[in-house]
Amino acid sequence: MTAPARTRTPDDLIRAEGPVLAHNYHPLPVVVARAEGTWVEDVEGNRYLDMLAGYSALNFGHRHPALVEAAHRQLDQLTLTSRAFHNDRLAEFAERLTALTGLDMVLPMNTGAEAVESGIKVARKWAYDVKGVPAGQATIVVAAENFHGRTTTIVSFSTDETARAGFGPFTPGFRIVPYNDLAALEEAVDETTAAVLIEPVQGEAGVIIPDDGYLAGVRELTRRKGCLFIADEIQSGLGRTGRTLAVEHEDVVPDVLLLGKALGGGIVPVSAVVARREVLGVLHPGEHGSTFGGNPLAAAVGTAVVELLETGEFQRRAAELGVVLRDGLTELVGKGVTAFRSRGLWAGVDVDPALGTGREISERLMREGILVKDTHGSTIRLAPPLTITAQELRSALAALEKVLA
Ligand SMILES: Cc1ncc(COP(=O)(O)O)c(C=O)c1O
Repeated sequence: MTAPARTRTPDDLIRAEGPVLAHNYHPLPVVVARAEGTWVEDVEGNRYLDMLAGYSALNFGHRHPALVEAAHRQLDQLTLTSRAFHNDRLAEFAERLTALTGLDMVLPMNTGAEAVESGIKVARKWAYDVKGVPAGQATIVVAAENFHGRTTTIVSFSTDETARAGFGPFTPGFRIVPYNDLAALEEAVDETTAAVLIEPVQGEAGVIIPDDGYLAGVRELTRRKGCLFIADEIQSGLGRTGRTLAVEHEDVVPDVLLLGKALGGGIVPVSAVVARREVLGVLHPGEHGSTFGGNPLAAAVGTAVVELLETGEFQRRAAELGVVLRDGLTELVGKGVTAFRSRGLWAGVDVDPALGTGREISERLMREGILVKDTHGSTIRLAPPLTITAQELRSALAALEKVLA
């Protein structure tokens, strides 16, 4: 008989996963059992500062009281209808999300990858129905080193061989240009182009921030050439960079916005394609859907998330504490850190490879009570909940300094 979790040690639990779970992740050896705010606790009661926040799915911290309350309230009323029927929570969610983002319509989905897939379908349909691209010829221009998710179509335009190898045949219709290169984009976009799809900050690539003017340039170019600008803000959006959306740093409004992660408050998977009416208006009944997309529990939590963002408090905290993060990392350059990039409460930190791989540094930080995740090679990313205090942030930076000494 399988022993209940509480009688097993962390090592037992980690070992037990091996034979029964697909090995598509390589987690740090910590077994989390409880969490609140910026802190998580393992099965033995050891506490860790969460400096990853579920890849930005936990922007409001673990179990934010307003979000938990919204979820509880909804659990007691109605959890799922499917879109075969209306539910009494969805209209408000869409009204508030469009008001927050300055766009017109919402296509609710669940995971980030689904939002990206849905955005691609919508862009292609727009190209045929509105732009007049000949059937089957629409192209989408994307950036090298992108990360947009894991489906077969999305990995078709990944430049990461680990993500692609062994998963072909791939979906055609994508052109890849270097990120942060407007000249390359100018050349790649033609009359078949439905959309340019980019991350305003490339998260998985190591928090790569484009030059000032790039996002505004993409906006100008896509408008001039008559194609859509799709901004994947699944990781960069909803407060992380010190603004509601990362495109706001250049006063840009894309045609299509992809949101996910924090939209579900760290409680339920909630994602969305948010777009201008002319774009999302191309979908008709039967052409796209999702059993769980727009379910009342997701809509209730998503609405509570939007309410938190409406206060501006989280964006303000990310901007203010982002200065503490940047100043702290600046101090560490030359002391084990070779370079870093940050915007708001989000940083990619390149560690001197002589001091260890990103994984090794992450394991050392874990032993100091700080949870982070490496990306490529010797880069670690920091993306704490936006509820973190300056003191907690400084303690994480002190721990980083210690493990690099
Ligand atoms: C920019 C971006 N898009 C899409 C995704 C995919 O989201 P999900 O893992 O929820 O499918 C991610 C996940 O890291 C992401 O960072």
